[in-house]
Amino acid sequence: MSDRANLLISDVLQKLHEVIVEHDVTYDEYQGVKQWLIDVGEAGEWPLFGDVYIEHWVEEQNFSDRAGSQGTILGPFHLPGAPHLHAPFELPHRLEEKGDPTLVTGRVLDTDGNPLAGANLDVWQADADGRYSSFMPGPPDGNLRGQVTADENGHYEFRTVIPGPYTIPLDGPTHAMTAAAGWSPWRPAHIHLIISAGNLEPLVTQLFIDTSDYLDSDVASAVKAELVVHPERAENGTLKIDYNFVLAPAKAPTAVS
Ligand code: DHB
Ligand code: FE
Repeated sequence: MSDRANLLISDVLQKLHEVIVEHDVTYDEYQGVKQWLIDVGEAGEWPLFGDVYIEHWVEEQNFSDRAGSQGTILGPFHLPGAPHLHAPFELPHRLEEKGDPTLVTGRVLDTDGNPLAGANLDVWQADADGRYSSFMPGPPDGNLRGQVTADENGHYEFRTVIPGPYTIPLDGPTHAMTAAAGWSPWRPAHIHLIISAGNLEPLVTQLFIDTSDYLDSDVASAVKAELVVHPERAENGTLKIDYNFVLAPAKAPTAVS
């Protein structure tokens, strides 16, 4: 066993011990928690639980000092290998996709303000009913997922619809815990992106729609003020979101002890 594993595992167990002592945890409570842990596994909800309740701490720990744009959690619904789209960029969608049509535009820049020509934006989002394709009934595979390329001036644009807010599944053990604690199960409406260019640090982020409910009570604690956007209504009725992404140099690898 490595020193690192010994350190982290010992510390987690020590902190659990402290909770048991501080709150005088009963045998019934222990057996209830053990069954709940089994239920989360059987329901296949560990990715969900981790990304809702733990990932935001890891993201903050690793990137709170980052230069450039803010990132936030990846979440459990990214699928690598989405199709590379061509101009005019439009996320794949159903013929009659519900939701407000929206044009998302902006530039991808480095921290000196230079355009990042050919930057890649991997985009995915829920539909207007808060459902992610390939994970939930409703949208067909590949719906509202695609990769967009910035032009020679670092300019990007793509068409989509405003997503709806999302709840964690209301019939599963993650929600059972959330409800037991009296917390809201909702995430505010958001669009996920991973922006990458050359050997800069890829930016894993989300844009949050300012008209959405739940911005102040995100179950996944992933909202940052810098990532809340205000869609403007253009003359033709389409909404427009304009956002520039600034990519930082790659994080230096941490020394392995
Ligand atoms: C979860 C859902 C999301 O849409 C997201 O962005 C992050 C986490 C979740 O249910 O775990
Ligand atoms: Fe999401």
